[in-house]
Amino acid sequence: MNRLRAFLLVFLIVTVLPVQGQDLRRPGKAAIASAHPLATEAGHEILEQGGNAFDAAVAVSAVLGVVRSFKAGLGGGAFLLLHRAEDGLDVMVDAREVAPAAAAPDMFLDEKGKPIGRASLDGPLAAGIPGIPAGLDYLAEHYGRLPLAQSLQPAIRLAREGFPVYERLQTAVKAKKGIIARWPAASAVYLPGGVVPGIDDIVVQPDLADTLESIASEGRDGFYTGDLARRLVSGVRAEGGIWTEEDLANYRVVEREPVVFNYRGARIISAPPPSAGGVALADMLNILSGYPLADIDRVTRVHLTVEAMRRAYRDRAEYLGDPAFVRVPVKMLTHPMYAAGQRTSILQDRATPSDMLPGYVPSSEGDDTTHFSILDADGNRVAATLSINTWFGCGYMVPGTGVFLNNEMDDFSIKPGVANVFQLVGGDANAVAPGKRMLSSMSPTFAESERGLLILGTPGGSRIITMVLLGLLDWIDGADARSIVSLRRYHHQYQPDFLVHEEGAFSTDEIRRLEAMGHKVQKLDRLYGNMQIVTWDYDSEEVEAVSDPRNQGGASVWIY
Ligand code: DON
Repeated sequence: MNRLRAFLLVFLIVTVLPVQGQDLRRPGKAAIASAHPLATEAGHEILEQGGNAFDAAVAVSAVLGVVRSFKAGLGGGAFLLLHRAEDGLDVMVDAREVAPAAAAPDMFLDEKGKPIGRASLDGPLAAGIPGIPAGLDYLAEHYGRLPLAQSLQPAIRLAREGFPVYERLQTAVKAKKGIIARWPAASAVYLPGGVVPGIDDIVVQPDLADTLESIASEGRDGFYTGDLARRLVSGVRAEGGIWTEEDLANYRVVEREPVVFNYRGARIISAPPPSAGGVALADMLNILSGYPLADIDRVTRVHLTVEAMRRAYRDRAEYLGDPAFVRVPVKMLTHPMYAAGQRTSILQDRATPSDMLPGYVPSSEGDDTTHFSILDADGNRVAATLSINTWFGCGYMVPGTGVFLNNEMDDFSIKPGVANVFQLVGGDANAVAPGKRMLSSMSPTFAESERGLLILGTPGGSRIITMVLLGLLDWIDGADARSIVSLRRYHHQYQPDFLVHEEGAFSTDEIRRLEAMGHKVQKLDRLYGNMQIVTWDYDSEEVEAVSDPRNQGGASVWIY
């Protein structure tokens, strides 16, 4: 009898009573959506070798740095949002770049205090200390099952043996030909013989393969100290940069608690500062939760969404920056009471001119990045957005390393009110300071509800946050992954005071009505974003991986 009781007790504990935080469901399928099929394949290869979602994320990130080095790579940074199934932990690994110790608030201004044209964009002065090598090492050591060296193998192979040029890469090389041609190491890879490579020509990167091998054998030290660090610093300084070996040795990844909030029955988990994403999403969705969106006509719904965007981006400009340097009022900005206050200033039928909002930051003036989403068969998840900022970053490849350096220094506010390359304005909270992380819009995000799970994110500079917002709203309304990535997008970022949209986002009549409300509506001449989504529907048990149709991507699901 006692034995039966003991058995029943054990049975109850194991099967019925959930362990705190632990995921009770197991997808039994793995899914990866990334911006390149070779990166997705690399993730699969690592899963097949017994790796989990975090090992796969190392492989996918490293391969993206090889085959999409105009978007992301070892010379850049990333936010990696993780969910660990065994204990339900949600955490963000912040591998964002930091300003070097010699950086100063006025470093991109001339003696008269005027911005020096493109100084924060071109050449190694524009480069922050990279975070990706440390981020990958950290991920493998703290969350992966496999050694870092094993997960880096697909990237090493592709760098050494080469991969075929594809259309988007060719377009990027053409667009940036001038700056690539300025430095021989970059030209040797992307302008062999001085010409743009043809489609299907093979790009080989032996120096990059060596750098990856150095990281594979020594971990983060293989990049931030020793020979490679010396090479990076002397290359940067020879071309007007200000890095030192201490800057590299001092670089640290930071684990951060995500921003978590609820919206219409869904639990949203997103990136905290120094990303503006989670805070802005919470602010916008809290504002929208006060309206019966499902029961109102589309134009009013768009109007209210735009007004929420305008207010969240105003707060971005005013309050957000690196939390190690400025006090970011996250609790206030993500509180439903704050949103209720914001709502009182929104008129149902009239746009609020941005210059009527309190604390107006006047604008005195007037891509690149990649995202992937992974779910493994045990339910571990990764949403990761990686960036070197604009195409090929600052354009400088350090000789002998194969690494393009980022130009994320432009994500700082180089002077209050001076817009950056994404037309974003900011003030003191995001001013340049030594060792500070520049504010970002990268917004890797999870959403969970009774219906299932969504893992999403996208590149797109300032428009990242509104793309994620529209994706979340669509998913919460019941849309599937394919419809979310195909959605025609619109965006407002407070300054400049325009409602911009993709072709097809609004009908002529809708534009007329939005204009009548006072919105300055502007159609963009191209589509934007490259969203990568994984969804898991609990009822049908279906797992889907979908890449944005605006670009070539690689999305697959495997049964385990
Ligand atoms: O961190 C940020 O917000 C920017 N550096 C992201 C840049 C980006 O998404 C460019 N892609 N199109």
